[in-house]
Amino acid sequence: MDSYTVLYGVIGDPIRHSKSPVMLNRAFQERGINGAYAAFHVVPDKLGEAIAGVRALGFRGLNVTIPHKIEVMSFLDEIHPGAKAVGAVNTIVNEGGRLVGYNTDGIGYVRSLKEEAEPNLAGRTIVVLGAGGASRGILWALAQEKPAKLMLANRTEEKARELADAFASEFEVTPVAWGDLRQACQEADVVINTTSVGMSPNVDAVPIDPTWLKPGAVASDLIYNPLKTKFLQQAEAHGCRAHGGLGMFIYQGAYAFEYWTGQPAPVDVMRKAVMASFT
Ligand code: ATR
Repeated sequence: MDSYTVLYGVIGDPIRHSKSPVMLNRAFQERGINGAYAAFHVVPDKLGEAIAGVRALGFRGLNVTIPHKIEVMSFLDEIHPGAKAVGAVNTIVNEGGRLVGYNTDGIGYVRSLKEEAEPNLAGRTIVVLGAGGASRGILWALAQEKPAKLMLANRTEEKARELADAFASEFEVTPVAWGDLRQACQEADVVINTTSVGMSPNVDAVPIDPTWLKPGAVASDLIYNPLKTKFLQQAEAHGCRAHGGLGMFIYQGAYAFEYWTGQPAPVDVMRKAVMASFT
C-alpha cells in the first residue's frame, strides 16, 4: 500500500465473518493491482454516512451485504437494470463520483452453475425451492438463460405466487404447491435449494426428498456451510450431479472485481484463498 492505493470494501451488520477481504485482496495481488479491500461494520442508521464516506474518500468500489442491500439503493446515483429488477444492490462502482449499483448475486450464482455443473441452461426445466431474497436474484438471472420452464415452490405458498406475479411482465415463473414438488422434481433437469434448510448447525435437515430428482439431474444448493449439504450428499448417492453454494460467493466477487477493474477475475486463486481461510 502507498499513497496511490485504490480503496475497496464491504459493509454489513454483522461483517466479521466475511471472506470477501481475503478473496478480493488475493485477486488484486494476483493481477498486480494497487488496491486494498477491508470490511466495515456499518449499523443501519449509519448507512447514509457510510455511503457519503465512500464518495468523500473516493473508494472505487464497495460490496454491500445484509441488512443493507435494499436500503442502500436510495443513496446511489444510478441502479443497473438487473439490480432494479431484483430490487437489491450488492456491488457499487464509483464512476468518477457517480455511484452505480449492481447486483452480482444472481448472475454470480448462474455463472457458477454453468462453470461447475451445467453449461447449457437454455431449454432446461428448473425448479427453485424458496422465495426469499436469494431466490429473487437467482430467478431473474436464470430467466436470462432462457430455460424451457422455471418453477418456484415455497413452504409459504403465497410468497411463491407473489414472486411469480412480480416477474410476470418480464418472464414466466410457474408457482408449484409444496405438496406437488415430487412431480415437479421428476420433470426437472436442475433443482435449486435457496431455503435455509440444511445450513449449519441443522446439517441433517433436507428441504425435499432428493430421491425425487432424476438420476443425472443437477442438485444445487446455495448453502456453503457445510460445503456439501445433506441434500447434495443424498442427491449424489442417488446419481445426481451436486453443485454447492461456494461458487456463488466466488463468482459474485468475480463479477464485482471485473466491474471495478475491467480485468478478468482470477477465479481459481480467489477460490483457493477462500478455502484456505476456512481452516
Ligand atoms: P434469503 O434472503 O437467504 O433467501 P429469507 O428471505 O429469510 O432468506 O428466506 C428464507 C427461505 O427459506 C424462505 O423461502 C423460507 O420459506 P418461508 O417463506 O415459508 O418462511 C425458507 N425456509 C426456511 N425454513 C424452512 C423450512 N423449515 N422448510 C422449508 N422452507 C424453509
